[in-house]
Amino acid sequence: MKTYKIEVPVQMYDGIDELNSDDRKLLEDAITAMEGSYAPYSKYHVGAAVLLENGEVFPGSNQENVAYPSGLCAERVALFAAGARYPDVAVKAIAVTADAEDFEIEGPVTPCGACRQVMAETETRHSSPVRVIMGNKKGKIYAIEKIGDLLPLMFEAEDLKKSK
Ligand code: THU
Repeated sequence: MKTYKIEVPVQMYDGIDELNSDDRKLLEDAITAMEGSYAPYSKYHVGAAVLLENGEVFPGSNQENVAYPSGLCAERVALFAAGARYPDVAVKAIAVTADAEDFEIEGPVTPCGACRQVMAETETRHSSPVRVIMGNKKGKIYAIEKIGDLLPLMFEAEDLKKSK
């Protein structure tokens, strides 16, 4: 048995002012998108903004439901809305942020596994890397250049072709 390590390059910023103008604008769009959050159960409001190759930005926010699994995360609301409107346009970047009613969020908001999987499909579907900006209203911000950095050893469409 051998062990190999997977290194993930994560860009770390001290705050929103340190971001370049494109990233900052997208994170601000995600902060605005939080206003649409419907989170009466978790009281955890998430906002996302998806930037397409054609320059359009799609907002998303978490939409909860009394039957909990029926709800959807902010990232997938934004990605699916963008895909439904522009199925053939690649996604350049997505920004995510959140605000909790009952506590202060300290670090960057990182997407859940299911959202990472959907981001991975978005990337392979268009053969184009998706930058992910993981923000917060204040505090450190992380960014990665492609989904593989968030989801190493991911299951991809290629893998299906190998099965008999
Ligand atoms: N949530 C998101 O919107 N995105 C994530 O990546 C993680 C979790 C939402 C789902 C639920 O409405 C609330 O945050 C608490 O889990």
